[in-house]
Amino acid sequence: MPKVFVTRQIPEPGLDLLRQFAEVKVWPEELPPPRETLLREVKDCDALVSLLTDRIDGELLDQASKLKVVANYAVGYDNMDISAATQRGVLLTNTPGVLTDTTADLAFTLILAAGRRIVEANRYVMAGKWKTWGPTLLLGQDIHGATLGLVGLGRIGSAVARRAQGFNMKVLYYSVPRNEEMEKELGVEYVSFDELLSQSDFISIHVPLTPDTRHLFNAEAFSKMKPTAVLVNTARGPIVDEAALYNALKSGQIAAAGLDVMDPEPPKADNPLLKLDNVTIVPHIASASIATRTRMATMAAENVVAALKGQIPPNILNKEAWDKRRK
Ligand code: DGY
Repeated sequence: MPKVFVTRQIPEPGLDLLRQFAEVKVWPEELPPPRETLLREVKDCDALVSLLTDRIDGELLDQASKLKVVANYAVGYDNMDISAATQRGVLLTNTPGVLTDTTADLAFTLILAAGRRIVEANRYVMAGKWKTWGPTLLLGQDIHGATLGLVGLGRIGSAVARRAQGFNMKVLYYSVPRNEEMEKELGVEYVSFDELLSQSDFISIHVPLTPDTRHLFNAEAFSKMKPTAVLVNTARGPIVDEAALYNALKSGQIAAAGLDVMDPEPPKADNPLLKLDNVTIVPHIASASIATRTRMATMAAENVVAALKGQIPPNILNKEAWDKRRK
């Protein structure tokens, strides 16, 4: 029977599906397997189900002479070296589509929470500070009627735009390439990155982490934003330069931030962002609904099963590797 290593406990339906076709070993700990363990475990594996916390690179793939497929339990795949896998004929897959709406829900939650200072307000009450109704107590930013700037208008960005319609927001977007079809469908306006920065009341990030998007939000970007602006990041931490974000939040250059992702994750205990009232941070839970995480698990398993059966996985990221295996 083929062997599959799963680098963390994922929802059972995914594991059940894998067990019908393979001998499955699951890393049982809360923390990811240490690098040496992962390198050892892949040695005799036919398939690996990885998480965004596992680095899949040439060094790892060189340990794994039997490995056919690595199925990432995530839509983002910046943890994987696509060209290293393609060179070695290893198929890579991800979980697109199934987490779009759940992630957009969380992005919108952060827009609301950071804009209306919900977490700060909750802390205020819990600390026993609520004395009376206050005319200027915990004033925040209106969401309805505000301008939302989306960086990226792919599946998740578009889903956030749809939610913004219900709040009567004006939606601007910047993306490479421009998507005119989607603009018409959603009634959103394409602007340059600088225009997006200067005109938006809320900015929500929906691009993958690539060399081009790393530190896209840096000191220069923050200097172009409104002092009332709120930044939301549910994409990947390194898209935001955290030192620059801290300075912008601390100095009042922008009003607030809502972060689902950080760099690194978890943040170090002395990360100064953790001390600010105007930042709302959650631990990378944008896709964390029971239904979505379960669907991600079955989707990752379906990709593994297809590869083990010699079929093309439905969510293949490197079709060239498939072509290479067929030769
Ligand atoms: C992803 O899928 O890329 C998210 O960050 C985790 O669901």
